[in-house]
Amino acid sequence: MAVLGATLVLFAGLVGVAAASEELPPLPDVSIPTDAETIELGERIVMARCKTCHSLQYLRDEETLQPLLSGITPDTAKKQFGVVPPDLSLIAIARPGGAAHTYAFLTGYENDLGDCEKAANRFISGGCTAMVDPRLSDEDALAITAFLKEAADPNEKIRVQIGIWVEIFLGILTVMAYLVYRRIKKRELG
Ligand code: HEC
Repeated sequence: MAVLGATLVLFAGLVGVAAASEELPPLPDVSIPTDAETIELGERIVMARCKTCHSLQYLRDEETLQPLLSGITPDTAKKQFGVVPPDLSLIAIARPGGAAHTYAFLTGYENDLGDCEKAANRFISGGCTAMVDPRLSDEDALAITAFLKEAADPNEKIRVQIGIWVEIFLGILTVMAYLVYRRIKKRELG
């Protein structure tokens, strides 16, 4: 258990380190809410406004238990947007920077299209995106991010808790090892 916890904590650290991306501007330092109310608000917005184009195939519909598929088929999407909109179930851990990147993308639209055909977004490489500006308030973008993060990584809270216990355990072990060491040293000298 301890080893598993430590490995998971290490993994979380590595995902964090992967945040540094060269070409994109630095991600906003945003703390993603974890309370149920915000997560539910985010879920409502995603189901109402994003599922038309995006699937969330690793999540289930509560009643039918079917995977949540988008309103359009990948073929139609490809014809309409030039790319298939990515599945959103794991998006909050799929990009360097994790959920902070999701939030940055949702709020990173520029009014000036520049050379872009559909939309300009600072947080996508190349600066242009095929997804039109959803015009979200910062609050809604944060709620959506909270929901997508919970969807992608529902065990994060537990993992952090395990990590804390692993650290306490290792701390106690260190103190005990030191006490044993002192006793042995005393015996050797005496
Ligand atoms: C009209 C269709 C459409 C709607 C509605 C839509 N999207 Fe998208 N979305 C796309 C397309 C197309 C892409 C691929 C963009 C690209 O690669 O340039 C995309 C990409 C994304 C990405 C990935 C960005 C990245 O880092 O690559 C996220 C996250 C996302 N959408 C979230 C949302 C959310 C949240 C909503 C609802 C508020 C939403 N989308 C609504 C079409 C849509």
